[in-house]
Amino acid sequence: MNKITITTDFDVFESIQELPTDIQNLMQQAMTIRKSAYAPYSQFKVGAALLLENGEIIVGSNQENAAYPSGLCAERVAIYQAGSLYPQIKIIAIAISAASDNNTTSTPIPPCGSCRQSIAEYEMKQDTPIEIYFMGEIGSIYKSDSLKNLLPLLFDKKFL
Ligand code: THU
Repeated sequence: MNKITITTDFDVFESIQELPTDIQNLMQQAMTIRKSAYAPYSQFKVGAALLLENGEIIVGSNQENAAYPSGLCAERVAIYQAGSLYPQIKIIAIAISAASDNNTTSTPIPPCGSCRQSIAEYEMKQDTPIEIYFMGEIGSIYKSDSLKNLLPLLFDKKFL
């Protein structure tokens, strides 16, 4: 038997002020759009902001539904909007912020598995890594240089 060892690393920023200026703005936009989340069932609000190569910023918040699986996460609301409006423009970075109405989230909240798979599709499509910054409501921010750090051994079109 052999073993495969996969290692990964993240940059940790102690506060928004420590982020590069354009990413500070991106995270602020994620925090602002988070407030528009429609999350009456979970009371867990997420905002996502995408920085595109042409300088455009595309935002999204989670949208829930009484039929629970019909809702959609903030990250996918934003990335599908970017894919619709600017199908040929690369995504440089994604900033994510999550907050609960019931407690203060102070640890970085990573994108869920389905969102990782969706982001992976766009990273493969554009053949350039997407930087992912994620945080809670307050506290530190984790940065991944690529979606691949968050989803090792990912499934993509080359297997089809
Ligand atoms: N949610 C997101 O918007 N993004 C994630 O990556 C994790 C979860 C949303 C989905 C649901 O509306 C609420 O957070 C609780 O799971």
